[in-house]
Amino acid sequence: MSQSSCWVRLSSSYKRFSSLPALTRPITRVPTYTCLPPHHHHHHPTYHQRHRQLCDRADHTSAKMTSTMRALVTTEDHKATVKEIPKPTPGEGEILVKVHYAAQNPTDWKGVASAPPGVIVGCDFAGTVASPSSRWREGQRVAGFVFGNNPSPKRGAYAEYLVIEETLVFPIPNSISFAEAATVPLPLATASQALFQRLGLPEPSKPAKSAFPVLVNGGTSSVGKYAVQLCKLGGLYVIATGSRKNHDLLTSLGVDAVVDYADDNWPEKVRELSHDNLQHAFDCISEENTTPKVAQALSSTKGGHVLCILPRKTSELPQDLQRKVKVESTIVYTVFGRPIKYGTFDNCSDKDPRPQDKAHWEKVLSEVPEWLESGKLKPNRVKEAGGLDDVLEGFKLHQEGRVSAEKLVYKIA
Ligand SMILES: NC(=O)c1ccc[n+]([C@@H]2O[C@H](COP(=O)([O-])OP(=O)(O)OC[C@H]3O[C@@H](n4cnc5c(N)ncnc54)[C@H](OP(=O)(O)O)[C@@H]3O)[C@@H](O)[C@H]2O)c1
Repeated sequence: MSQSSCWVRLSSSYKRFSSLPALTRPITRVPTYTCLPPHHHHHHPTYHQRHRQLCDRADHTSAKMTSTMRALVTTEDHKATVKEIPKPTPGEGEILVKVHYAAQNPTDWKGVASAPPGVIVGCDFAGTVASPSSRWREGQRVAGFVFGNNPSPKRGAYAEYLVIEETLVFPIPNSISFAEAATVPLPLATASQALFQRLGLPEPSKPAKSAFPVLVNGGTSSVGKYAVQLCKLGGLYVIATGSRKNHDLLTSLGVDAVVDYADDNWPEKVRELSHDNLQHAFDCISEENTTPKVAQALSSTKGGHVLCILPRKTSELPQDLQRKVKVESTIVYTVFGRPIKYGTFDNCSDKDPRPQDKAHWEKVLSEVPEWLESGKLKPNRVKEAGGLDDVLEGFKLHQEGRVSAEKLVYKIA
């Protein structure tokens, strides 16, 4: 296979990467019990665990005394501001979480532009359990995502506390920082829903017997970085697009072949790399001008299936491609098991609560701790961007396209 200046074929080497400042990692690695049910954690806490429990308890006691919290809330003019608002109270089957870190997704600022006033912004969080339940003990480190920017129920991650269903968080292994854990939930849920539920690709628990090709367009995006790793765990031959400067990062995540999307010819390069046999593609960018290119990369004889995370349609493709390529879209907010209407995404409806989407996410949540702890799944690179008062500044950076292959995270409490 030839090489050009615009694309490189890479081996599937699997290097461990980390761009985290040393101080955000635990100084001592303490044993973790994440595969056991949460109540087992009571046994023999190490010095570090005991210390953390005591600190968390002290925090919790003082928090109990105040009934308000700081949160980023939408205003009348489709903007948002930090306000003091009532602290939420968990209902049946829910827990209160004290948010330590929140991570930024494009949906946060897109949502602010369209949400009604008075809703809480933000989805991805990592924190500690502030109200115990039958599944979780107080002070336990957990991460998850909520449907931010949404009036019912009103939940958001850019807040000192949030309420979430007790089945929709995962226990954070001790080797993973709060900041790293916060980068995982929403993009991982999106990638898993798209790849396994919608494209029907082999799951990590039942990998492909022989590798067939899959394309992840926008492999360096937040969703893309989890997508390429999930595809590798599923035993596939993974081709990903990304800027040249990020190709080493993609290789370190196990990607088999990388192409630069700045090369006009990139779909042809993918056809060469896949011996014109690509039938599955995940477009993590899903813009009007990316999905037709992804469709062009599919097998010229067999065509195939392109999954998008913005509401792209087959009818937007050139006529000749429409005959053999199916374009579909998926929205991650169906994991909450409530009927939703969200643009023209193919998987949501205001009648169907999609219990299968919630069940799928719950299954992934049960697998995540082991994936993270064993290094099979590496969290997105984090970039500390301040606290609650700095989120709007971070939105601006992201909107201007100045966030490349990293995740802005905010220290909340
Ligand atoms: N449907 C859903 O449920 C759902 C869920 C999550 C996200 N989304 C949507 O998916 C999109 C991506 O979200 P994200 O959080 O993953 O994004 P992100 O992390 O902000 O993505 C940034 C990356 O996109 C890459 N990129 C930009 N233009 C590209 C192009 N033309 N081709 C290939 N790569 C390109 C850049 O790569 P380089 O730096 O390498 O150039 C950059 O690293 C957003 O529109 C978001 O709203 C939808």
